[in-house]
Amino acid sequence: MSNLAGRRVVLGVTGGIAAYKAVEVCRRLVDAGAHVIPVLTDSACRMVGPTTFSALAGEPAHMSMFDDSSSPIPHTSIARSADVVVVCPATARVISDIRTGRSGDLLTATILATRAPLVVCPAMHTEMWEQPSVRENIEVLASRGVIVVPPESGRLAGGDLGPGRLAALADIVSAVERATGAAHPLDLVGMKVLVTAGGTREPIDAVRFIGNRSSGKQGHAVALEAKARGADVVLVTTRPDTAPEAVSVIAVETAEEMAEACSLHAPTSDLVIMAAAVADFKTAGSSDHKIKKSDGVPEFVLVPTVDILAAMGASKPAGQVLVGFAAETDDLEANAAAKLVGKNLDVIVANDVSKPGAGFGFDTNEVVVLMADGSRHHVPMCDKREVARMVINAAVDIAGREPGKQE
Ligand code: CTP
Repeated sequence: MSNLAGRRVVLGVTGGIAAYKAVEVCRRLVDAGAHVIPVLTDSACRMVGPTTFSALAGEPAHMSMFDDSSSPIPHTSIARSADVVVVCPATARVISDIRTGRSGDLLTATILATRAPLVVCPAMHTEMWEQPSVRENIEVLASRGVIVVPPESGRLAGGDLGPGRLAALADIVSAVERATGAAHPLDLVGMKVLVTAGGTREPIDAVRFIGNRSSGKQGHAVALEAKARGADVVLVTTRPDTAPEAVSVIAVETAEEMAEACSLHAPTSDLVIMAAAVADFKTAGSSDHKIKKSDGVPEFVLVPTVDILAAMGASKPAGQVLVGFAAETDDLEANAAAKLVGKNLDVIVANDVSKPGAGFGFDTNEVVVLMADGSRHHVPMCDKREVARMVINAAVDIAGREPGKQE
């Protein structure tokens, strides 16, 4: 597996001459398996074209807080999705902004909004690099845990010689790998993980369905986290359009299709995480044609769908860890605990979907992770990737593996 497979790397490029080297850094990160999200400052765009980064990276380069088609608030969505942010090259200006917490553009706002590790690769003329103000800023960043990849001594723009030249590109890529490694122990290497996500759609006729509000975001975050920790991930989802690229995706629509995909992969999976919102009922028979209004108000007979998780719980292979989600609006923990026992699970993630900011459609969530041994862990409101991390930590605990250790 490539060292950065499944990891989302924000590549911040600022306006130093060494910006042209960031193109090669981008390519190397992609070669190492990363999904690279380029964020360029205005000055960087004067040095290198955003089109170059867009062509090489996992997604088009981002430049503006305000005209970004991917999101109305791009700095928070980019920041939350990042596994690591690397600023390459980092000018004296951006180093100072990071130190003081100034958010004057998309890149500095993203850096402020992220909890991901930050790697800073300074490059500037010797006189600037040796300024006490710059030295002090660098020391403060390092003392806060920022990984600084120091510049080398060598030939600089304009023919000068001295310290300030961007570090060797291999050292920059290694620093990014180290930073993500610290955030994600590779404790799922060699494990097969089956994840389900999204809400199923049960057809009524050729154009209508019974559905629910699930966006698939929580399940997709779980799949990405499992991949980042080294697992071989199969993601069964009703939302393949927004599924992470690095995992193997099976697109389904109905509970029956999801059950079929799960029955194929569950028996050989070490860990199964059922985050999908599966419809409990479907129509007894759906029409291939559109039901016409002129035919009067239709009446439907509903029949239960298969309970996929309960079926997997009933035939759970030895050693497999089975995790369910409980979407509740009342008596959160009691209802979730009943499902934990009733479906023979090892872990259940109790999700109060009536809470503002939690559950369906949001980027954030708040859950209580309940284990079969009676222990519980409250995960306060945070982004869904963080919830995914906690859920997988719980599963790893049950499997008797310590995070960071391989069996
Ligand atoms: N689940 C499933 N198949 C179903 C229904 C639910 O596999 N037909 C799974 C969900 O993916 C989830 C867990 O069971 O992991 C709990 O789902 P939830 O909707 O919270 O509960 P239900 O068992 O459907 O019960 P209720 O709707 O009455 O709360």
